[in-house]
Amino acid sequence: MNILMVCLGNICRSPMAEGVLRHMATEHGLPVRTDSAGTSHYHVGEAPDRRATASMRRHGIDISDLRARQFVADDFHRFDLILAMDESNLANIRALAPHPELAAKARLIMDLVPEHALRSVPDPYYGGDEGFEQVYAMLTEACAVLIKDLRTHG
Ligand code: 4NP
Repeated sequence: MNILMVCLGNICRSPMAEGVLRHMATEHGLPVRTDSAGTSHYHVGEAPDRRATASMRRHGIDISDLRARQFVADDFHRFDLILAMDESNLANIRALAPHPELAAKARLIMDLVPEHALRSVPDPYYGGDEGFEQVYAMLTEACAVLIKDLRTHG
């Protein structure tokens, strides 16, 4: 199973999502390949934002190896599931789908947790550390559902 996490810059939310999923998949011995990308080119080649790395480290997860890249149309062929952090990311990704049926691979990550009050993971870039903690909490909830699904249905 190949899963791609997508946000705008690929330095805050999506590398955190990749880190959470990678950590949980390893813990459960699941054969999940993870990656992340941004819809923009703003931070291509950069390591995650230091606040994202610090937040993840507080929770025992190292994401310092990750580097930002831009989402490309071919990702629709390379990944089974593409999880967007917000509605804007989802619209931008779907606009690049090579075929309409491939667009269905892209979904909002919080659709995994329909009972959650928020549909989008808020962009923490212009805020404080508490924003990154909120992102971590939401991603942990969503990835736990994903891991449970993968353990049940493969
Ligand atoms: P991300 O956060 O999409 O969660 O990586 C952002 C990072 C950078 C910018 C915006 C959001 N930016 O405008 O540079």
